[in-house]
Amino acid sequence: MRTVFWDYERGTVKMIDQRLLPWEFEVAEFDDYTAVARAIKDMVVRGAPAIGAAAGFGMALAAQQSQAKDRPTLLRDLETAAATLNAARPTAVNLAWAVARQRQAAQNAADIRAALLQEAQHIADEDVEINRRMAYHGAELISDGDTILHHCNTGALATVDWGTALGVIFAAHEQGKRIHVLVDETRPRLQGARLTAWELKERGIPFDLIADNAAGHFMRTGQVNIVLVGSDRTAANGDVANKIGTYKLAVVAKENGVPFYPVVPTSTIDLSLANGDLIPIEERDASEVLSVFGKSIAPEGISARNPAFDVTPHRYVTGIVTEAGVVYPPFVKHLREAVNSVQ
Ligand code: MRU
Repeated sequence: MRTVFWDYERGTVKMIDQRLLPWEFEVAEFDDYTAVARAIKDMVVRGAPAIGAAAGFGMALAAQQSQAKDRPTLLRDLETAAATLNAARPTAVNLAWAVARQRQAAQNAADIRAALLQEAQHIADEDVEINRRMAYHGAELISDGDTILHHCNTGALATVDWGTALGVIFAAHEQGKRIHVLVDETRPRLQGARLTAWELKERGIPFDLIADNAAGHFMRTGQVNIVLVGSDRTAANGDVANKIGTYKLAVVAKENGVPFYPVVPTSTIDLSLANGDLIPIEERDASEVLSVFGKSIAPEGISARNPAFDVTPHRYVTGIVTEAGVVYPPFVKHLREAVNSVQ
């Protein structure tokens, strides 16, 4: 089953509710774009490409929900929906990218409602195809016997299907390489422990779950061959925004001579931003740090900070895996070429 999909019989958007995994597998249904925006914010659906696909379907829902009798009114309703969806989560550029694609589709279409559903379906289908292509480029970096360190969740659940960094791991496993994965638990939302461990277990890929704080130990003692992560937005110069903690991994990887590769579809590359300092970093509610599954883990009444992402400067990045191939420095030149080659 795809992570996000349109139910053609019911005219609704469906999503695997990722807040409930690995204990319960439930599919949530949406017939209202404002509820889709809330689902993105609350992380029913998460992961940059999955968020993009959800926003694409959200725009299609908005077109169907609109009572507009004429084109200008429908376009105005879509602008309201675009603003609501865009505000849901700021860091993953796939969200704004998918909404922009839908605004463009609406401008060009004779039948706006049909065109937006078709474009949303394209965005979703393309994502799966791109992930597969990217995975086989990335798998060339993996040797038989490698141990791969992975952060957050970048698998089928973070995309429409298959995955980015985890997609590379799935491809290497499919090729018969004997690999082992060290899975960062990824506090505070535990995407590694809950989601990545679930996906690897389902596929029978050997792994160990580790506390985030253990990653440095495994790298310094020579137990990691490569670090693979995803990205929520990569700037034109190759600075990579990804789940909080990625920067620390990259610095320790460089210190220990471990190659560090983000796996990034071109939809996640934002050439309009010269560097990573310009990437908006989402700060989520302090309650995610102060409690685990509703149970308080700190004294009452204290404050906490909860940035959801950090930026890894490009000097720590060995290469960037894209669907156009693996891109190496100078990123400012080669990322632009990669993006242009797939447009
Ligand atoms: O807060 P999340 O779970 O949406 O963060 C997800 C990540 O940081 C992933 O690494 C990123 O979206 C790329 S995965 C395809």
